Amino acid sequence: MKNKIREIFDSIDNFKAGSVEELEDFRIKYLSKKGLIPGLFGEFKNVAPEARKEVGMALNELKNKAQEKLNLVQQELSGKSDSGQKLDEDFSKPVDFSDLGSRHPLTIVRRQILDIFSRIGFTVSEGPEIEDDWHNFEALNFIEEHPARDMQDTFFIDDKDEKIVLRTHTSSVQVRVMQNQQPPIRTVSPGRVFRNEAISARAHCIFHQIEGLYVDQNVSFADLKQTLYYFAKELFGEETKMRLRPSYFPFTEPSAEVDISCNICGGKGCNICKYSGWVEILGCGMVDPQVLENCNIDSNKYTGYAFGMGIERITMLKYQVNDLRLFFENDQRFLRQFQAAM
Ligand code: DAH
Repeated sequence: MKNKIREIFDSIDNFKAGSVEELEDFRIKYLSKKGLIPGLFGEFKNVAPEARKEVGMALNELKNKAQEKLNLVQQELSGKSDSGQKLDEDFSKPVDFSDLGSRHPLTIVRRQILDIFSRIGFTVSEGPEIEDDWHNFEALNFIEEHPARDMQDTFFIDDKDEKIVLRTHTSSVQVRVMQNQQPPIRTVSPGRVFRNEAISARAHCIFHQIEGLYVDQNVSFADLKQTLYYFAKELFGEETKMRLRPSYFPFTEPSAEVDISCNICGGKGCNICKYSGWVEILGCGMVDPQVLENCNIDSNKYTGYAFGMGIERITMLKYQVNDLRLFFENDQRFLRQFQAAM
């Protein structure tokens, strides 16, 4: 028995493997269930009692030797490529599963909003981010010297010829839809918009809006109000209250801004709603008949409503985010918090 152990010990010591297959043969020969070493362990019961201690130790040593050799050769082999060069990667390592990502909070809220409107028959339409003056302004009743143009802080593509702009709002898409389609029209248009504003906790030069448009016969302000009330309750909860304040937009008449009861304090007053109990979520109104005409829709036959909201603003309210810049920094510590909200 002792001689056998010595013999095997020496052959393990001299073993060299040029390939993974050879190494696997080695493992099978010496260490597998039916291999030589377990075989010797099986024979151990026949060893004379006085020799057991010594033989037992030699056997254990042999087993360790074989295991060490296996590990060593395995390491050598995995460090080599076909050309014999060292590689940094150990291809025999267990797979390292990378973390699952999460949707961006703005994506989560955009999808929720589009889903709410799609349930009541709104389609989704999109338009270009680089837009001409006519679609962004002119067709929407912002005539050339209109003071409301100043409020939009426009980026021009060519500052000598101010006819091509980065769209300042997604209302440009409603113009494109009406030009291409006769009523009934029921559509929501999400997209990125651009304004030359200083970046702060409350403003950014790039942000996102969703525009809504409904044009058909006999569309009334009551329809608008009912649709927005349904939307507010779906997004912010059944107990949400809503109010409209008169406002002005060149392309709607009458126009209104919509507030909902503050979803943080439930209307009691807190620093988010500045102790008023209300927070503004969007602008809306009845499509000005002139806008319908600009897009070749008969304003004697059809009426419509429109609304527009900022996705950042709604997301800030919904998730109590107090700095808009967080949406653009891609800090994973911020983004990971939305994993559960997808
Ligand atoms: N386009 C407006 C803005 O960017 C938002 C808006 C207000 C859109 C009223 C509308 C509307 O469709 O009816 O400030």
